[in-house]
Amino acid sequence: MREHWGSKLGFVMAAAGSAVGLGNIWKFPYLTGSKGGAAFVIIYLLAVIILGLPIMIAELVIGRHTERNPVGAFKSMVGGTPWVLVGYLGVISGFLILSFYSVVGGWTIGYIVKGLTGMLSNLNTPDVAAREFREFTANPLSSLIYHLLFMASCMYIVFGGVKGGIEKWNKVLMPLLFAILLVLIGRGFFSGGMEKGLSFYLTPDFSKITTDTIIAALGQAFFSLSLGMGAMITYGSYLSRSERILTAAFWIVFLDTAVALLAGFAVFPSVFAMELSPAEGPGLVFHVVPAVFARMPGGQFFAVLFFFLLFLAAVTSGVSLLEVVCAYFIDEKGWSRHRAVIIMGTIIALLGVPSALSFGCLSHVKMLGGTFFDFIDKLTSNYMLPLGGFFIAICLGWKYGLEKTIHELDPDTKILSIKELWAFIIKFISPFVLFVVFISLVWADLVAFVQRLFA
Ligand code: PHE
Repeated sequence: MREHWGSKLGFVMAAAGSAVGLGNIWKFPYLTGSKGGAAFVIIYLLAVIILGLPIMIAELVIGRHTERNPVGAFKSMVGGTPWVLVGYLGVISGFLILSFYSVVGGWTIGYIVKGLTGMLSNLNTPDVAAREFREFTANPLSSLIYHLLFMASCMYIVFGGVKGGIEKWNKVLMPLLFAILLVLIGRGFFSGGMEKGLSFYLTPDFSKITTDTIIAALGQAFFSLSLGMGAMITYGSYLSRSERILTAAFWIVFLDTAVALLAGFAVFPSVFAMELSPAEGPGLVFHVVPAVFARMPGGQFFAVLFFFLLFLAAVTSGVSLLEVVCAYFIDEKGWSRHRAVIIMGTIIALLGVPSALSFGCLSHVKMLGGTFFDFIDKLTSNYMLPLGGFFIAICLGWKYGLEKTIHELDPDTKILSIKELWAFIIKFISPFVLFVVFISLVWADLVAFVQRLFA
């Protein structure tokens, strides 16, 4: 018998734990900062509602219907056809994402250590904080050690299994994360940059919308909701028949979006209070947060709390990435859980080495205009996840047939129209929108590539 979640709350916490991660607290603020502020936020929200929620439901439906990992799920629905490749695409995405995700997860551990040893209190201006961040991420030894520590944390939790590991930890860690975030927003309110921060964050300037903004917002919606690679198929596969998928999906999407928006409220007022540029890139929270807290009474404590929060969020997501990869080897290859975790965890950790060195000794090695780290990040977020979502929608809507799975959606749902609306979106809207965006992405990248060739 397949292992199941212990409770509905346990499942929602674990799935929200997968969704809420570095994507919300690290990536969302810096993308918003560099891709047009409020205009980016609006497109992001549209992508979450129009594409994210329906595909979240679709993945959970596929997972519970087949009770398998992504590859097994497609085998059981459309085995013997090339559609099974969609499952492999998912497992490979999990593999690649975790390899660079773990590097950033490692930075959070590094900053907790810095906080505990009192080193963060020296970073009292954004310039000093930025220099420190650059030196820290460029150091090969510490980058690697912290990356390995992060991988080890994920492996430890996945080792414990679905109920005794993943669920048990998420039920404690997720509520803690919310509490810490609220405290931090409270601090941000007194920073003095409230007005400018909020206007940047909430007043859209639609002239700032470009193809690049749209693609980044869409990729971010998939990344942040853990969609397009079968993480939600895998988590859905441990969901018992009596749970309601619609309600669960609403909760997961709501919690994930709420944390991303709240992270913006915690970061932007301070960015403007310190007259920093919001377009700092991946270092944004690592520059801003220490500089804010170094100037505040009791700041050390809050700084450690913040990075601990970031670490918690990252671990619960890293765990879901590792679980997808391991579930494949457990279900399809008959491996024991322990064997899968040790072997796959080690390989992913090795694959993460060039990403960990991308900010130091490998920073000059460019792949398609960015470092190895940038390359894997872009490849997965902008290409693999939206493409995965596209194929999931087409396969469910056109190949396998929605009529075979729609009963998974709460049989007693009175509002029939919600089911019908979902079916319509999955069949027509999601594939269409994803196709159009994807073509413009390929086009934009191709043009950039050719321009580089002749530059
Ligand atoms: N959703 C996670 C985050 O926002 C990242 C993730 C992507 C996790 C894909 C699982 C699958 O950080």
